[in-house]
Amino acid sequence: MPTKERLGVLCSGRGTDLQSIIDAIDRGEVNAEIAVVLTDKPNVMALERAAKAKIKNLCVNRQEFASREDFERALVRELQAASVTLVVLAGFMRLLSPYFVHAYQGRIMNIHPSLLPSFGGAHAHRDVLAYGVKVSGCTVHFVDEGMDRGPIILQEAVPVWENDTEETLAARVLEKEHLVYPKAIQLYCEGRLKVEGRQVRILDFAGGKENGQ
Ligand code: GAR
Repeated sequence: MPTKERLGVLCSGRGTDLQSIIDAIDRGEVNAEIAVVLTDKPNVMALERAAKAKIKNLCVNRQEFASREDFERALVRELQAASVTLVVLAGFMRLLSPYFVHAYQGRIMNIHPSLLPSFGGAHAHRDVLAYGVKVSGCTVHFVDEGMDRGPIILQEAVPVWENDTEETLAARVLEKEHLVYPKAIQLYCEGRLKVEGRQVRILDFAGGKENGQ
C-alpha cells in the first residue's frame, strides 16, 4: 500500500481552510496526514485549530528573521523535519521566493479567493466589488514563482450580489473553498493531477487514462 502524502499546511490567520482539510481527513475524504501546521505569525487561530486536532504546529515568526531568505530557510527546515511531501498554502499571506518554490517544485498548492487570473493579490474581494463583476469564486492552483499564477487545478464560481460587502462575498466564497480545497488535495493524493505546461489534466484514475475533456 502506498504511503500517505504528508501535508505541511502554512497559514497566517484564522485557519478555516485548514479546518476544512482537517475535517475532510477525519471524514475519510482526503487520504493524507497533516504532518505539521506552520504560521508566520504568533497567536493565530490556525495554531489553536491544529493543537486541538493534535497536529504538530509552530510559528516561524517572520518578524524574527532579518531577511525573507532566512525566514524561508527556516520554513523549509521545519517542513523537511516533518518529512512533508505536499505544501498546502491555506490563507498564507506571503509571496514565496524562487528558493522556496524550487525546494518543493510542483508540490505546493494554494487557494485564492477569486477566479484567477482575475483579482490576484491580497484584496481579492475588495477588488471584485470595486470592478463590478457579477461572478467571483475561488481557485486552487499549483504555485510557481509568480504571484497567484501557477497552473489551475480546480475553480468554483459564486454570484456577486449588488448588496454584497467584502464580508458577505468572502463568506459565500469560503463555503466553496472549504469544499474545493480538500477535493484538490485528494486528487493530488490519488496521483490524478497531470501538469502539462499551464494545463492540469485530471486523470480518471491514478496514472490511468484521462477524463476525455
Ligand atoms: C481564504 O479566503 C483564502 O482563500 C485567502 O485567505 C483566506 C484565509 O482564510 N487566501 C489568500 O487571499 C491568498 N492570497 P482562513 O484563514 O479562514 O483559512
